[in-house]
Amino acid sequence: MAQVHVVRRENRIRFDYLFDDYFQLRHKIYVEQRKWAALARPDGREIDQFDTDNAVYLFAIENNRVIGSMRAVPTTSPTLMSHIFPHLNMGEPIHRPDVYELSRIFVVPERRGEHGGPRLEAVLRAAIMEYGISLGLTGFTIVLEAWWLPRLEDQGWRVKPLGLPEKIDGMQVLGVFVACDEEAWLTNCRSCGIVAPTINWLGLETLSRISLPSIARQEVAQ
Ligand code: COA
Repeated sequence: MAQVHVVRRENRIRFDYLFDDYFQLRHKIYVEQRKWAALARPDGREIDQFDTDNAVYLFAIENNRVIGSMRAVPTTSPTLMSHIFPHLNMGEPIHRPDVYELSRIFVVPERRGEHGGPRLEAVLRAAIMEYGISLGLTGFTIVLEAWWLPRLEDQGWRVKPLGLPEKIDGMQVLGVFVACDEEAWLTNCRSCGIVAPTINWLGLETLSRISLPSIARQEVAQ
């Protein structure tokens, strides 16, 4: 059973052994499988300018291996939307300490779909909401492909487009803002059969003290 860990600057040393495989996995998934050629690197590791000390990673780990992940970058730092696709946001640029930008969500091919429990992709999304609520975040920006929209909305994410979709490398892509709150978290959990908080806060004990309100915990546990 995979465990979802939050990895930040403060506890990264505990997970350093996973990062090289993680970047190689990103290269396999995004460059080789999804054919996002612009991300190709001769060393076979997909690392970009947003993989800085400020990035927060969710790692779903099983048998000492990352099998799914998501990245969150503070919007007070450069992000995909602010620096690569600013035209996807037709409103005011978003640079706020309470808003992070999500990217690089993936699950290894053999663990996609359902395997007798909640889909790992849904678990990662529940985990990032849980993380956001715990830290007092109010929302996430995302540059995403349009096929995500009905899927996210079906699972309780309230998604607000920030501009018009644009065809980029054959994909319809748009910028969105997603509200991060208990309602979205609980709906996400209910719709996917997630019955308990999903994050393991190993090495971030001080953050884990800022816990989810007990009412939410009780409701999810019911
Ligand atoms: N275009 C259109 N639809 C897609 C898609 C794509 N590139 N990738 C997945 N989907 C759809 C599938 O067709 C499937 O639809 P269905 O349920 O109606 O059959 C559904 O999403 C589920 O996808 P699947 O891959 O089977 O399982 P999952 O929900 O466990 O995982 C991802 C979803 C996106 C995490 C997984 O497909 C993945 O890791 N993809 C590679 C990384 C990626 O593209 N990430 C998104 C951009 S950062």
